[in-house]
Amino acid sequence: MVFSKLLIQWYLQHKRDLPWRNTQNPYHIWLSEIMLQQTRVAQGMPYFYAFTEAFPTVFDLANASEEQVLKLWQGLGYYSRARNLHKTAQIVAFEMNGRFPENYIDLLQLKGVGEYTAAAIASFSYNEAVPVVDGNVFRVLARYFDIDTDIASADAKKSFQKLASELMPKESPAMFNQAIMEFGALQCVPKNPDCSVCVMNQSCAALQKGKVNLLPVKSKK
Ligand code: ADE
Repeated sequence: MVFSKLLIQWYLQHKRDLPWRNTQNPYHIWLSEIMLQQTRVAQGMPYFYAFTEAFPTVFDLANASEEQVLKLWQGLGYYSRARNLHKTAQIVAFEMNGRFPENYIDLLQLKGVGEYTAAAIASFSYNEAVPVVDGNVFRVLARYFDIDTDIASADAKKSFQKLASELMPKESPAMFNQAIMEFGALQCVPKNPDCSVCVMNQSCAALQKGKVNLLPVKSKK
């Protein structure tokens, strides 16, 4: 598939060196993904370092007081994330012997872990072939394939998951998932992307049709 080939080539040249990309430790991956919900990478990074230093294992986090956890979280906002983080750490530590579930379906059972986070952990930690679908992925795929499904609609997630799954090279799910998010974050940005330098500009359907700034379609909920 042209798309995946171009994507991976682009990623290998342009990817940022982010700390959670140099590990397969599910605890670290989980921490990073919870932190990065509603938070930018540059803002989340110091917190990731602070948490992994203060609480190197899920047992350390589980055994901390809620006060300690909230204190370290200060400034990141959405404090329910920190409380859920702490509770989930206790479940993993005390009810699962400190081992995170090792596949997508079982990961979904964890509190605060939805489809996106479960797919991120399953693919980055265990190389399971499940696609992540976040705002970046919606945008990249909607543009490249000129898909005008409303991404706020009920079916959108399922249909984009299916497409991403078909595009994913089965030998490198983790890299594909990182790559498509990174491509959305750095190149195929929401407003006025610079398509003149884009590796996909020969094959991107939205660009051919002059629809880049019209996609993805998102109705107000
Ligand atoms: N945002 C959410 N998850 C991310 C990841 N794994 N890498 C970069 N940005 C992200």
